[in-house]
Amino acid sequence: MKIAGTGSALPSLVVTNEKLSEFLDTSDEWIITRTGIKERRILSKETLLDLAVEASLKALEDAKMDPKDLDFIICSNVANNYVTPSLSSIVQGKINATCPCVDINVACTGFIYALDMADAFFSTGRYKKILIVAAEEPSKFVDWSARDASILFGDGAGAVVVTNEKRENLIAIHLNTTCSTEPLYYERSMEKNPFNEVEQKAHPLIMNGKEVYKLAVSSSISDVKTVFEASGLKPSDISYYLLHQANTRILETIRDFLGEPIEKFPRNIEKYGNTSSATIPILLDEINKEGKLKENDLIVMSAFGAGFCTGACIIRW
Ligand code: ACO
Repeated sequence: MKIAGTGSALPSLVVTNEKLSEFLDTSDEWIITRTGIKERRILSKETLLDLAVEASLKALEDAKMDPKDLDFIICSNVANNYVTPSLSSIVQGKINATCPCVDINVACTGFIYALDMADAFFSTGRYKKILIVAAEEPSKFVDWSARDASILFGDGAGAVVVTNEKRENLIAIHLNTTCSTEPLYYERSMEKNPFNEVEQKAHPLIMNGKEVYKLAVSSSISDVKTVFEASGLKPSDISYYLLHQANTRILETIRDFLGEPIEKFPRNIEKYGNTSSATIPILLDEINKEGKLKENDLIVMSAFGAGFCTGACIIRW
């Protein structure tokens, strides 16, 4: 597939580690050393929909495409105000598109899953232009009275427009799901009804940081190995590694395994924290708009998240 345009949007409010230290038992030094995060953006005045729409319109503008030309919209999102209708339906209306839409929830790996779904849609011959938008507001489902997960996340949206030209540019892709809920989950309650005898357990995001850390490193390395084997390419052939921005130490461990120079691993975790499935499209938009990408550059993307769902791919720019 061809990535014809990229876009991203972030909330205006910058929340530094120092700000968090005012109400959490933590410190700038601890957060930087353990995670690499200096600050994150948190939704305050804007809504997630605003970000999703802004990122989508920027990607369409970059692709020089009219929203009416889109054949499908895939929106990756873990949770937002509306359970129904889907976020993608609301985005569709706001950007004046007319195509069908679907939301997917693959936690932080949603963007890679969406790329594979778009490619599968292209293979039917019925779809040619697809908008993928990853829009996430983890700030609304972490526990802000606890320091374990709240310090890690930020809000944001990233989008791409993909077309069915050069389908061979998606050189290899590998998705994996291994059911394991305990390390990372967010359970919310539904409406009470007179027939339900099962106790509802709602609580903010529960995360076993050490377990997630281990799963993240092992799965990402395994997925990246798989796409290298499938493609016949080797680490030195790659121009950029866009890895899910969850923790600098996780990124460094994966880089150690690959043995490639730091310049090939763009990062924005220090500015935005973990924006769930939006990290990779935001990063892609940044390096695209900075003019770092050249035609035929090879890019590896790899993400992991709750489920445990993981995925990696190699694309040609
Ligand atoms: N501030 C200060 N101290 C803290 C904090 C904090 N925010 N959190 C924990 N500590 C303390 C602990 O209590 C502990 O103290 P103790 O030694 O006195 O018991 C000490 O710091 C070390 O805690 P650990 O949990 O061992 O710290 P660790 O080095 O494992 O780092 C972290 C924790 C950052 C959560 C790490 O495990 C991690 O990044 N895991 C992956 C998390 C992740 O990526 N989640 C999302 C990915 S999937 C997705 O994106 C949905």
